[in-house]
Amino acid sequence: MKQLAPMRAWLMLLLAVTACHTFADTEVNANRARFNYMLNCQGCHSADGSGIGDIPEMKNFVGNFLRVPGGREFLVRVPGSANAPLNDALLAELLNWMLMEMSADELPADWQPYTEAEVTAYRSTPLLDVEKLRTVLIDRIDAL
Ligand code: HEC
Repeated sequence: MKQLAPMRAWLMLLLAVTACHTFADTEVNANRARFNYMLNCQGCHSADGSGIGDIPEMKNFVGNFLRVPGGREFLVRVPGSANAPLNDALLAELLNWMLMEMSADELPADWQPYTEAEVTAYRSTPLLDVEKLRTVLIDRIDAL
């Protein structure tokens, strides 16, 4: 048994490296994402995403945006997301965490987590009329 230990250690290392490599692009570090949410979003959206005052409720809802055309881009391009002092990889992680944490039931079964490259692309196009686009998307969600 004893001589197997080094081999097992190697195997574990190999598995760890392979896992990191495969999931690096969309990996979610929940503690880091939660921390970034607390720092940058919670003041308006509240701890559980139910929103403060007029802020729209994300809890049990925000996942619906991924079910309609234009919704996926919208979640990245809203000012709260796009202007956050987080790089594209951290914003992707935060959004993926938020969707799973607050609105897993509304996500389409085949949803794909945001990648860093996707966030980079969406973020570079500013949203000029947030309210108007939001209304269009909410109508699409209501029509589902
Ligand atoms: C100053 C308040 C404020 C902060 C801080 C803020 N948001 Fe928002 N957020 C809003 C408002 C208001 C809306 C509604 C759309 C709009 O008017 O921008 C919104 C909408 C959203 C939406 C779309 C959901 C919907 O129903 O419209 C997402 C996703 C979102 N915010 C993510 C974030 C993330 C992620 C952060 C932190 C990195 C953040 N927000 C920080 C105010 C804020």
